[in-house]
Amino acid sequence: MHDFRSLAKALEARGELLRISRPVDSRHELAAVMARLEGDGKAFLFENVKGSKYPLAGGLFNRTERFGLALGRPPGSPYTHADLDRHIEQAKANPVLPRMVSDAPSKAVVLTGSEIRLQDLPVPTFFELDTGAFITAAIGIARNPRTGALNAGFYRTLILGDDIFAINASSLSDLRRFYQHAEQNGEEMSIALAIGVEPSLLFAAACKLPPTVSEFDIAGGIKGAPIEMVKAETSDLPVPANAEFIIEGKVDFSRRVNNVLGEYAGQYGPESAPVTRVVAITHRRDPIFYSIMAGKNPEHNTIGNIATYGIQRDLSAKLLQLSPAIRKIKIFTEPKLGPMVHIVMAIAKTDDEQPKQLIRQAFAAPGSIFPVSRIARRIVIVDEDIDIESLEDVEWAIWTRVADASKVIVIPGMQSWELDRASSEKRGSMRLGIDATMDMADRAALVRPRIPGFDNLRLEDYVGKPPGRSVA
Ligand SMILES: Cc1cc2nc3c(=O)[nH]c(=O)nc-3n(C[C@H](O)[C@H](O)[C@H](O)COP(=O)(O)O)c2cc1C
Repeated sequence: MHDFRSLAKALEARGELLRISRPVDSRHELAAVMARLEGDGKAFLFENVKGSKYPLAGGLFNRTERFGLALGRPPGSPYTHADLDRHIEQAKANPVLPRMVSDAPSKAVVLTGSEIRLQDLPVPTFFELDTGAFITAAIGIARNPRTGALNAGFYRTLILGDDIFAINASSLSDLRRFYQHAEQNGEEMSIALAIGVEPSLLFAAACKLPPTVSEFDIAGGIKGAPIEMVKAETSDLPVPANAEFIIEGKVDFSRRVNNVLGEYAGQYGPESAPVTRVVAITHRRDPIFYSIMAGKNPEHNTIGNIATYGIQRDLSAKLLQLSPAIRKIKIFTEPKLGPMVHIVMAIAKTDDEQPKQLIRQAFAAPGSIFPVSRIARRIVIVDEDIDIESLEDVEWAIWTRVADASKVIVIPGMQSWELDRASSEKRGSMRLGIDATMDMADRAALVRPRIPGFDNLRLEDYVGKPPGRSVA
């Protein structure tokens, strides 16, 4: 689909997007309804957010089948993160550069000076202790100051006034590096937020790409056609021609704000960001604002997993090289396990020291995009008979095969990223390694009870075939 609104329309036609006409308060009430609707897998369009001039859409990507629909798959056909990951890998091999156009729907209305009123946007305040209202579904666009490549990512943005906000860039983001470069060199920095962009650009912006690769080229590769861009009003930044809104700003490094927002793993996330002065807002003639329900909710995590799926794939490949004893690797990035990853490796072990050595080696590994110790909280080593896709089976291994305290390795004082909120830079954060394999001497006592012949048994041979359905 070539723009954001086409997906909203397609979902509405299928009865998967609900319109809410009742007036809703943007402070907490909106988030409460959004969270409920997301729980039901619905997309939604709020037509009347109190005090705002524009409707708000969300929940569009709270199921992966909708990625497929947006990329032209027939409605209702199954589509997974693995399918999108393959599509993105093909796009990386076949990038398509953006095309500049002069006439753009996203420039139909241009607001500058006193016409700039961020308060007119229907921006929700989500959780009780959030610092304020946050734009959550914007793609932030900035140039890599070293390479000139155009970069994009999702960056939560705190509204601070009518023409001022703070665009948060985590310590894992390229944008954080650009901020540092501009601040250290005293350079002016232009940035633009695009809200309601076409699906292929949204997917590319969610990916964690090397800083030398432009998300716009990958978006073109995903789409199979160039992303159309237009020059911004107040800088030379190209911005998406068919976005719903573009907000242009200049970063002011003389003032920073600390802020918190309820985050994807169900915890509050602290951030600190320079403020940005808004110098222009442009939008379509009848724009739709897009908001992703913050916190541990389906759309945030379905989109967020686009990045983590790729990171897991790269990381598994790297970890497999650590030892020929490793048979399988599973990397859990489930929000129910908190904001960091949990790695499980099934090995064919030959001695009792091997799992502990592997745990230490894995925590010390450089990883793919991030060092393993930075993003992984726990590494569990299990035997080959454990189903590592099942957290339950991994837990079973831990609680039936570990008795000796030496099989649990606690590494103190590691550096995490800021969403590991129980840690701090000074105190650091612990890492946990668990050797949940059977000790060589105890194998006979610890194997799982199995019934010989169970796996190949055909129940029909004993109870007959289940009755077929009668045809009326
Ligand atoms: C809904 C959503 C919200 C996100 N919010 C932030 C954020 O506030 N700050 C941030 O640095 N990354 C955030 N991310 C992750 C980045 O968008 C993602 O890691 C991206 O690859 C960063 O791009 P960059 O490394 O090119 O700057 C968010 C992702 C999603 C899906």
